[in-house]
Amino acid sequence: MNKILVTGGCGYIGTHTMVDLIENGFDVISIDNFSRSNPKMLERVEKITGKQIKNYAIDLCNFDACRSVFLENTDIKGIIHFAAFKAVNESVENPLLYFQNNLFSLINLLKCVEEFATPYFVFSSSCTVYGSPDESPVSESSPIKPGESPYGITKQMGEEIVSEFSKANSTKCVSLRYFNPVGAHPSSLIGELPIGKPQNLFPAITQTAIGKISKLTVHGNDYDTRDGSCIRDYIHVCDIAHAHTLSINYLEAEKEKSNFSVFNLGTGVGVSVLEAIETFEKVNKVKLNYEIGPKRPGDIMAIYASNELAKSELGWSLKYSLADMVSSSWKWEQKLKEEFDSSIK
Ligand code: UD1
Repeated sequence: MNKILVTGGCGYIGTHTMVDLIENGFDVISIDNFSRSNPKMLERVEKITGKQIKNYAIDLCNFDACRSVFLENTDIKGIIHFAAFKAVNESVENPLLYFQNNLFSLINLLKCVEEFATPYFVFSSSCTVYGSPDESPVSESSPIKPGESPYGITKQMGEEIVSEFSKANSTKCVSLRYFNPVGAHPSSLIGELPIGKPQNLFPAITQTAIGKISKLTVHGNDYDTRDGSCIRDYIHVCDIAHAHTLSINYLEAEKEKSNFSVFNLGTGVGVSVLEAIETFEKVNKVKLNYEIGPKRPGDIMAIYASNELAKSELGWSLKYSLADMVSSSWKWEQKLKEEFDSSIK
């Protein structure tokens, strides 16, 4: 059985991807030091899959610790590298933290990939690499604009590092550019666990609906879009997760022409903030308390993906709709509340 190392395996996309890999016959190990994730989520993945998962709670910025995982697992076939910090605001306040954490960890990992000649490497990238695009849909060949935040720059630099690495080594690499991952696993056992007040729209919506946040603020309604609010490409986290399994299959099938391929992971459909709110209310039959506030600095007016390449090359297809995204994220939020209520009784 092929062994895949998932870094950041206990995070939001990492947990969903470990489930998908295991369901598709892969053997999975994880590296996650729980700096931005919760150990309970690992138990949940084990519960969903019925498989025990070995997690190494080490910091990838520590090269010797990273190398020790490879020494113990000389049969790693592929790596999916999620482990990184991803809060835009925090990266603006503390850029060095982001450059140090996101880039040192990647370099340490690639040094091990080189030494142990790991065949496949999948890098977790973001549509943030496009900066503020001139038009949508954006395709993989659309221009890379200047990064909007230190976080975004670490993703752009990360892609460059992986690309140059792939030219000098035999490891085959894929970079996946996620648009806006949302939703939760159908079991409601795993989902997004934001730290502190959520910055992203979906957790802000669900936390408002459950009463953790008193009022949701829509960041601007005077953009030049159909209803004045920003447009994004929201995509179900399980669809994102499956694209990672397909990427490993793609690399194994040696379909790649070069050693480095890039794929957009989005639905191809732009949804406005107000449309997302309306869909949430309609599907879940919940009224949201929201107000229109000022624009959020640094926000991009509209971005959505062309996903043709992932469909044709990876054989990817979308399983989940916007209705599934809003209903699964709501079920997840309710499940969290149930657990919290029962833990304090
Ligand atoms: C943001 C980051 C992106 C990162 C992604 C991680 C920016 C500019 N981009 O994407 O680099 O990869 O998070 O998931 O920060 N909104 C509200 N009210 C809220 C929260 C959000 O109206 O309380 C709006 C935002 O203004 C935006 C849309 O909802 O128009 C989506 O916001 P968000 O979920 O934060 O994602 P992005 O900004 O697209």
